[in-house]
Amino acid sequence: MSMTMTPGDEAGAYISGIDLNHVSPSDVESIKAALGNYGVAFFRDQSITSDNHIAFAMHFGDININRFFTPLADYPQIAQVLKEPEHDRNIGENWHTDHSYDQIPALGSILVARELPDSGGDTLFINMFAAYDALSTDLKSKLQGLTATHSSRHVFGAKAWEDEGGSDKTGRLKNSDAATQDAIHPLVIKHPFSGKPALYVNPEFTVKINELGEAEGEALLNEIYTHAQQPQFMHRFEWQAGSVAFWDNRATWHKALNDYAGQRRLMHRITVQGVALHG
Ligand code: SIN
Repeated sequence: MSMTMTPGDEAGAYISGIDLNHVSPSDVESIKAALGNYGVAFFRDQSITSDNHIAFAMHFGDININRFFTPLADYPQIAQVLKEPEHDRNIGENWHTDHSYDQIPALGSILVARELPDSGGDTLFINMFAAYDALSTDLKSKLQGLTATHSSRHVFGAKAWEDEGGSDKTGRLKNSDAATQDAIHPLVIKHPFSGKPALYVNPEFTVKINELGEAEGEALLNEIYTHAQQPQFMHRFEWQAGSVAFWDNRATWHKALNDYAGQRRLMHRITVQGVALHG
């Protein structure tokens, strides 16, 4: 089987000619190249087992066990991203980058489709390399040297849980006491695999720009968020039975669409540990 990589127009690359149950060292290098250049690797027609989901993830780093999602009973390394027919909210419905609140943020997540609704439930991705490249020269130089604070507290903490009614998201554990992470990262990072610059702030977890006053920082974050959400940077991934997406948190945002009321959607997610980020 020979691997083929087809970059999408906006974000990500589609990789075919690979069985994720059996990956070679050169497959791993090609997937790292896809992540470091396009931000997401998409795969179709896979039949990956839970054991091989774990084995595949470990080619890229240690597994980062999620503090807030319910794990599979026999596989604590695998988090369930689940929406039941009776639930009105889903996990990941706002634009975000997983784990940006950690001092050493996760490399990325490998999401495997297990049960899909008849229609809907696509995931949107934004290419933060392309969003950075398209900024004006003036804005690029303004961003150099800035840092941002990211936090888990307002998303997974006690107040957020209460505001949500506490019972809408079965995929989440009620452990708001674990939401204690704050981290500072450069606003523009160099991607650890490719060295390419990417914008590293996101609407869900970024709380402020450290070097600017509150109003100026908020205005700049909003300008970046509006810019990044343009269609030319956004790819819509339509899940099918056997689909797998491996996104790199250092190069993308993602958002799970909540447009399949009354249907079940179950995904298995493994998050891979990353490295400290530098500008
Ligand atoms: C997530 O944010 O991890 C969920 C993505 C999805 O369910 O499509």
